[in-house]
Amino acid sequence: MATRFKGLRVVVTGATSGIGQATAHAFRREGAHVVATGRDPERLAAVARDVGEGIRVDVTVPGDVELLAQLGEVDVLVNNAGMGLFAGVDDTSEADLRRVMEVNFFGAVRVATALLPALRRSRGVLVQVASVAGRRGYQRHTAYCASKHALVGWSEGLRQDLRGTGVSVVTLCPPAVRTPFFENAGYMSFDEDHPDLVPMTAAQVADGILDATARRKRMAILSPRARALDVLNFVAPSLLDGVRPRRG
Ligand SMILES: NC(=O)c1ccc[n+]([C@@H]2O[C@H](COP(=O)([O-])OP(=O)(O)OC[C@H]3O[C@@H](n4cnc5c(N)ncnc54)[C@H](OP(=O)(O)O)[C@@H]3O)[C@@H](O)[C@H]2O)c1
Repeated sequence: MATRFKGLRVVVTGATSGIGQATAHAFRREGAHVVATGRDPERLAAVARDVGEGIRVDVTVPGDVELLAQLGEVDVLVNNAGMGLFAGVDDTSEADLRRVMEVNFFGAVRVATALLPALRRSRGVLVQVASVAGRRGYQRHTAYCASKHALVGWSEGLRQDLRGTGVSVVTLCPPAVRTPFFENAGYMSFDEDHPDLVPMTAAQVADGILDATARRKRMAILSPRARALDVLNFVAPSLLDGVRPRRG
C-alpha cells in the first residue's frame, strides 16, 4: 500500500459527500491525518470517525473558517466545498449568483487565506477544486461558470504571489463526476441530462487529487477527454458551441 502522505496533516473541505469524502478516505489510506470539514453533522461525524478528525465548517461563515486558522500545522489543503446551480440565465437571480459566488469563490478564498500561514510554514500544497466549468462556458450554468472561472483566476494569481515560498498551488479541474452534486444543483438526474456521457467516479477524482498533490502539479484537468476538449476550446472554441445542449 502506498504511504505517500504518512504523518502529514491534510484538511479537506466539503468532506461530507462526493469528491471530498472520497478524497478524505484516500488520504487516510495513504497515512495522512485528515481533518474533514462540512456542514451536515451526521455525515461529518461518520467521515471523521474513519479518517481522523472532523470540524463543522460552513465556508460562508467567517467564524467557522477561523477555527481552521487555529489548527496550527497543515501540510495539504483540499479546498473542495462547493455547490452547483442548473438554471438558465433568465431564471438566475442576482441573489442566486451571489449565493453560488459566496460558496464556490469567496468561501474557497476565505479558507485558503485562513490556512496560508500554516501552508507557508510547512511549504505545503493547496489544491483548489475548480471544474472544467472554470475553463469554458456551459449552457444553463452562468453562475457556476462565473464562480469557477473566478476561482481558477484567483488560484493562478495566487501561485505567482507565492513564488519562492515553497507553497504549491494545484488548480484541479474535474469533468462530470457521479455525486449528489447534480441533484443538489437542480438537475432531474445526471443520467437524464447526460444520456451519452459516462461520468468519473468520486474515487477516480480522489486518485487524481492525490497524484496532483504528490507531484505538485500546476494544473490538473482530469480525464483525457476533458484535456482534449480544453485544448480544442483554446484553439477553436466555436467548434464546441452547442455541444451537448441541455434539457430542462
Ligand atoms: N460532481 C461534479 O460533476 C463536479 C465536477 C467538477 C467539479 N466539482 C466540484 O467538486 C466539489 C465537490 O463536489 P461534489 O461533486 O463532491 O458535490 P457534493 O457531493 O454535493 O458535495 C459537496 C460538498 O460541499 C459541501 N458544501 C457545500 N456548501 C458548503 C458550505 N457553504 N460550507 C461548507 N461545505 C459546503 C457539502 O457539505 P454539506 O453537505 O455537509 O453541507 C459537501 O460535502 C465542488 O467544488 C464542485 O463544484 C464537481
